[in-house]
Amino acid sequence: MAAPSKQQEFPEMKNDLALRAARGEKTERVPVWVMRQAGRYLPEFRETRAEHDFFTICRTPVLACKVTLQPIERFDLDAAIIFSDILVVPQAMGMVVEMLPGKGPHFPEPLNTPDDIGRLNKPVNVSQELGYVFDAITLTRHRLEGRVPLIGFTGAPWTLMSYMIEGGGSTTMSKAKSWLYRYPAESHKLLQLITDVCIDYLVGQMQAGAQMLQVFESHAGILGPGLFAKFSLPYIRQISRGVKEKLSSRKLDTVPMIIFAKDAHFGLEDLSQSGYEVVGLDWTLRPQHARARTGANVTLQGNLDPCALYAPEVELVALVKAMLEKFGTQRYIANLGHGIYPDMDPERVKTLIDAIHSHSEYMNSA
Ligand code: CP3
Repeated sequence: MAAPSKQQEFPEMKNDLALRAARGEKTERVPVWVMRQAGRYLPEFRETRAEHDFFTICRTPVLACKVTLQPIERFDLDAAIIFSDILVVPQAMGMVVEMLPGKGPHFPEPLNTPDDIGRLNKPVNVSQELGYVFDAITLTRHRLEGRVPLIGFTGAPWTLMSYMIEGGGSTTMSKAKSWLYRYPAESHKLLQLITDVCIDYLVGQMQAGAQMLQVFESHAGILGPGLFAKFSLPYIRQISRGVKEKLSSRKLDTVPMIIFAKDAHFGLEDLSQSGYEVVGLDWTLRPQHARARTGANVTLQGNLDPCALYAPEVELVALVKAMLEKFGTQRYIANLGHGIYPDMDPERVKTLIDAIHSHSEYMNSA
């Protein structure tokens, strides 16, 4: 039997704007959170990071909780996102991943040929391998004291597969893409293995206390429409379906799910019908076009250019107002179109959040 959900034991919610927006309910102001809101642009994060290795923070619930709360204590955000990384899933599957300072993630032994799939753990005992994330979520839900909802997340299968083969960042992803052309059957096999882990991982996060779940398909754009339809979208769909089926079979309430497929403008209609309540947008999409293409049944999230935060303050406020006018105040969660950059002045985040709140309240009262 599955462990009972801890949802009912948590402190009562004081601000559930982001959850209401995700479910399509009325919101008196637009909720906002920022992708990578806990991270190196915050001096308090750099301080914690100077003392601990990146994955040690992820694996130590008190530390993960502490850095998750850092942006919540500083800013008037409407959601927290648990501090972790998408690459904890390849680790759970048996791969070694290091975080090299100034270089990003590094896999000393990436998957070179389909034979290497044999090296992966099968099946993965998700609560054993990733139980530390569940513990961090439960602790953080308590320490949040209902201030804002807590978001859990996973990388989507193609994005994780691309890291497992490339062994780190890549501009072309030609090694990983070569698998899709040369070894389609083995690619599907690998994607399915990852998908099965992602489903259990998200269900476990929800049972531990996550109130919304985001799936990051950060490497969607490089696929183009053809490969996206074959190797990304079917697994994105399986994840929303699989999570919801598992939750309902355990008699647990489902939570809103967000799909963020970066640069997948060609897939927007399909993504809006892939079983997610919220579709995250990068900044290359026009808000009104995105609304027209996704219809009335999904909430949109995004999509300010992360570099807009470098603009002078008055210009940033004008950009925020223009974004709100285009999205409207309902069925909308404001965010950046991708993660915040590490050299950003934290004061700019405050300007962003305040402008979103005050202008959306003004729009709602007009
Ligand atoms: O949003 C949050 O505050 C929660 C934390 C979070 C991190 N990574 C922390 C992190 C989240 C949601 C992620 C997701 C993630 N990780 C994605 C999907 C989002 C996206 O950017 O498209 C991806 C692709 C990764 C993989 C990853 N992790 C990369 C490419 C890097 C290096 C780039 C960088 O910013 O340094 C990381 C490292 C990482 N993940 C850091 C943080 C705070 C910085 C590492 C450090 O402190 O040394």
